Amino acid sequence: MAPLLRRRRRRVLLLPLPYHGHINPMLRLAAALHSRGGLAVTVVHTETRAAEARRILPPGCALVTVPDGLTPDQLAASNDVPAFVTALNRNCLAPFRDILAAALGEEEECVVVVVADVDWYAPLAAAREMGVPALALMTSNAARFRVYLGYPRLCEKGYLPVQDLHVMVPDTARHVAYADLLDRIVAGVRQSSGLILNTFDGIERADIELIRRDTCIPVFPVGPLHALSPAAPAPAQLSSDHPEDRSCLEWLDTQVQGSVLFVSFGTLATIDADELTELAWGLAGSNRPFVWVVRPRLVRGRDSVDLPCEFLKETRGRGMIVRWAPQEEVLSHPAVGVFVTHCGWNSTLESMSKGVPMICKPCGGDQLGTARYVGDVWKVGVRVGVNDKLREGIQVAIKTLMAGKEGEAIRNRMKEMRDVVSKCIGKGGSSDLALQELIDFIDLS
Ligand code: UDX
Repeated sequence: MAPLLRRRRRRVLLLPLPYHGHINPMLRLAAALHSRGGLAVTVVHTETRAAEARRILPPGCALVTVPDGLTPDQLAASNDVPAFVTALNRNCLAPFRDILAAALGEEEECVVVVVADVDWYAPLAAAREMGVPALALMTSNAARFRVYLGYPRLCEKGYLPVQDLHVMVPDTARHVAYADLLDRIVAGVRQSSGLILNTFDGIERADIELIRRDTCIPVFPVGPLHALSPAAPAPAQLSSDHPEDRSCLEWLDTQVQGSVLFVSFGTLATIDADELTELAWGLAGSNRPFVWVVRPRLVRGRDSVDLPCEFLKETRGRGMIVRWAPQEEVLSHPAVGVFVTHCGWNSTLESMSKGVPMICKPCGGDQLGTARYVGDVWKVGVRVGVNDKLREGIQVAIKTLMAGKEGEAIRNRMKEMRDVVSKCIGKGGSSDLALQELIDFIDLS
């Protein structure tokens, strides 16, 4: 009788980029690989914010910290994404090699596979050089990754850098730094063993297909990651270092179904002090109840945020201001009728999976493109025009969405979108199958 081949265990090392909007989806993936795939999972997190990482680690997953060598100045400048990401890649490379070597040495019986955020181009390359299969995770959408792929051509053709302040790259120096970073990211992904996308066939099938053709590597569209695994940690465990204010959920219980505006601009986006005032008066003028997340540093260049006293007086009882909300739970609440959002990709996916129509007020980066898709392609929300005065823009958008025929059509499409998401992640849906393919791919590595 032929001897039985003993199957070697798989250990996946996952490297999230230390931004909340990137950590969340990576940890949801960690939970899914562990709970559904039965894979051993170690999250490799930068030493900075390691305490937070430990607190939000999915059950059953291990944590290893990697020294990031960032100076206080570099940490304070984490909003300068190209500089921050480049410094991280440079500083973490040698320690990451040591961690990987230790994992390979310790676990002779085990096959090690790396899954890193696309921005971790240096660890992806190091894993490859050490003969370890390495997959990249794009936490934003497929269209955004196509922008990465097409960036050099857009530069060659003279479309970039653009001179308009409202588009992705505002000045030449940043443009050069950005182009350089994207070059390295794309090269890293092209040489990796596969690409995992936090999106789904139901909305981006064509873009996903084009990425497959362009990169010639296996592509796994497994999103929305936050909705994927029933075994993923509850939202509260996944929130960042801001303490969650859950009193808004009780307040929502007292409100009429579909009547409340939920206003939130994610974790990084900033607005001008004037825009804050305009937004406040736009909400006040709508005469609708609202929950507004006003987190510290929401206003550019300021640590704390002061809302006009008159506004607070006028909206008392009708408006609730919180520093940090349990967003996924708020969006699930039947009282919430509209989401006023910056269109961060996680927020957009959360809104779609809960069927809440959106008012898009993008602040920069991928949010501008996502807002275009939400308003003009998927038609599940309305955009506040970049040239509109915010106060009037918000009020017009609220009226459009919450009353009238156009609003009704958008609300209905968003309900259909919720069903599309649910089908994709349900048994036999495209994301469910892609996740199984990913698990099988790791198993066969
Ligand atoms: C950033 C970029 O802005 C975004 O465009 C990119 O796609 C990912 O990185 P961020 O600004 O944080 O992300 O926005 P978003 O992607 O929407 O993520 C915010 C996350 O924080 C969401 O998961 C949301 O549920 C959570 N959140 C936000 C809360 O839980 N509570 C809050 O009060 C606010």
